[in-house]
Amino acid sequence: MARGAEVRPAVLDVRDAAAMANWIAAAGPLGLVVANAGISAGTGGGKDVRSEPAAQVRAIFAVNLDGALNTVLPALETMAAQPAGPSGVRGRIAVVASIAAFVAAPGAPSYCASKAAIDAWTVAAAPAARRRGVLLTSVCPGYVRTPMTARNRFAMPGLMDAERAAEITLRGVAAGRVRVAFPRRMALAAQVAGALPPALRNWAMGRIAGKAGDPDLADR
Ligand SMILES: NC(=O)c1ccc[n+]([C@@H]2O[C@H](COP(=O)([O-])OP(=O)(O)OC[C@H]3O[C@@H](n4cnc5c(N)ncnc54)[C@H](OP(=O)(O)O)[C@@H]3O)[C@@H](O)[C@H]2O)c1
Repeated sequence: MARGAEVRPAVLDVRDAAAMANWIAAAGPLGLVVANAGISAGTGGGKDVRSEPAAQVRAIFAVNLDGALNTVLPALETMAAQPAGPSGVRGRIAVVASIAAFVAAPGAPSYCASKAAIDAWTVAAAPAARRRGVLLTSVCPGYVRTPMTARNRFAMPGLMDAERAAEITLRGVAAGRVRVAFPRRMALAAQVAGALPPALRNWAMGRIAGKAGDPDLADR
């Protein structure tokens, strides 16, 4: 706004596919879309691990996977129909996944799985989107200081400020990278842990405390 941007705020639920499609279609030319909405909740992890309530499982997939697709799919169509800029690019879409995409942790089964699904979809859909002039980037941050992590009661190695995370994200998106994962050391550790045999990974990850369940998402 300070630099002269026109801001048109709207409040929508990303789970509402029709409302999202209508809003995006009416938004005018799109330079960059960030599919950022997400929710997180876990199972406690460590020795306190619990089963994830069914309502929590459904809610996490509805927002983190369907909600992201409800944002990206209409944006992709709008952008592909726009005139290309001098570099041949018609638009850019950043899909906020997580490094949780790389390792299925017993402390957060649905969160990890929803982020793995949206990361895999974004990476695999990127080449075809690129041929249509749209650059898709999967953004996989480690721990970022936001209200989402403020509730965590466990150590968060590599925790970074949101401004720094946004800077790294925008640099990767501007460079047209298919995936931006940071901090690098955390991303590598998650990828190594994710490559372990499942039983060994569950044993190792099961020793680590995780995020608690969200009472608002529990079965009613
Ligand atoms: N913080 C981290 O360490 C971290 C790490 C990796 C990835 N991420 C991902 O980064 C993204 C942003 O997370 P954050 O840390 O900024 O979390 P946050 O502080 O909890 O913010 C989440 C945002 O998503 C919005 N949202 C949730 N459900 C929605 C829905 N159904 N429809 C529309 N908007 C909805 C929230 O809006 P309301 O406030 O109105 O509910 C809020 O603006 C998420 O996808 C998250 O999974 C975060």
